[in-house]
Amino acid sequence: MDRECTERKIRLQELSGKKGRYRECNGKSKTPMIILGIETSCDETAAAVVVDGKRILSSVIASQVATHHPYGGVVPELASRKHIEAIVPVVNTALSDAGMDSKDLDAVAVTCGPGLVGALLVGFCFAKAFSFALEIPWVGINHLEGHIHSVFLEPDPPPFPFVVLLASGGHTGIYHVTSHTRYEIMGQTRDDAAGEAYDKVAKMLGLGYPGGAVIDRLAGEGDPDRLVFPRPFIDKTTFDFSFSGLKTAVGRYIQTHKDDYLQQIPDIVAGFQEAVVDVLSYKIVQAAMSRGCRHIAIVGGVAANKRLREKVADDGGRNDLKVHIPSVDLCGDNAAMIAAIGYHYLKNGTASGLSDDVFSKIGRIQAPCVPALK
Ligand code: KG4
Ligand code: ZN
Repeated sequence: MDRECTERKIRLQELSGKKGRYRECNGKSKTPMIILGIETSCDETAAAVVVDGKRILSSVIASQVATHHPYGGVVPELASRKHIEAIVPVVNTALSDAGMDSKDLDAVAVTCGPGLVGALLVGFCFAKAFSFALEIPWVGINHLEGHIHSVFLEPDPPPFPFVVLLASGGHTGIYHVTSHTRYEIMGQTRDDAAGEAYDKVAKMLGLGYPGGAVIDRLAGEGDPDRLVFPRPFIDKTTFDFSFSGLKTAVGRYIQTHKDDYLQQIPDIVAGFQEAVVDVLSYKIVQAAMSRGCRHIAIVGGVAANKRLREKVADDGGRNDLKVHIPSVDLCGDNAAMIAAIGYHYLKNGTASGLSDDVFSKIGRIQAPCVPALK
């Protein structure tokens, strides 16, 4: 019913030729915003069409994994070139999957950082030119805010305030979220991100890149209790993380078991994963309790992890917390999450200008707490 309603509204909009202005099916007047999201911060070229920051009409992701796989990690120069090849077809597919023409769009939201500068520039310059030609507003989005907004694309999003764990390949942090555009950082990694630890351990074991999904799968075949690796920073005084010591402990185990570690891979990755998941789950639950928040969420590529999803659901439930986890498709990099947060900036009149630029490390868009999102 909802979907039919949306499709009818969209057809009405197309017929009337008026951008973003039509009548709700229930007769109430409303201005929905149809946003094209674009994401090219790392090794995925993604575009999505999202209505009012919550309803996904299409989401297309072109992965570059096959390109970077032989190198055991993302090669920035290759990533930029692949984005250039993919950006136009990916945007066209997102529009056609949504049953739309570019003229139906009300605005564009695009990742402006953090990420690989050459990769970011492809999506960013495309978005600038595209919206300039269409004479519609556009806004540059902090990728981390995008990940946080993946929970708002699900049917039962958390109410404010809530505490979210963002665990990806480049970042791991816990944020207290008080509105769509206000976040306070409660803790973050002091060295490697959780996803980075997965990728490095996978590389040490010769499991290829990226390592998260393969470790997730292999860990299911191992015994998580046979090899006990250190649980770093697992105390109540800080919500910071540190995963490089754990990675080194796995490396040392491999070094000291040169002759037989290959036969132990499932147990090694299961032990490593259990240590990561223990720390992440413990910290998000403690962080929520410290703020008296009843709602927690986990987002980012590592939130796709089966064991992490299970453990946070259990630990959260035991502590009377409602746990919000996006579907696996929305955990990794995608453009729907960029459109989702873009809606809230654009709705409040925040848009970017032609002189705006991308950034590699430190967030600097307009939300008051965004500089904290490193
Ligand atoms: O959010 P994301 O797609 O990109 C960044 O913003 O970094 O996260 C990618 C990271 C990679 O390190 C990858 O190994 C990890 O997420 N990852 C996983 C799983 N799927 C992806 N880690 C653990 N378990 C998974 N199932
Ligand atoms: Zn990401």
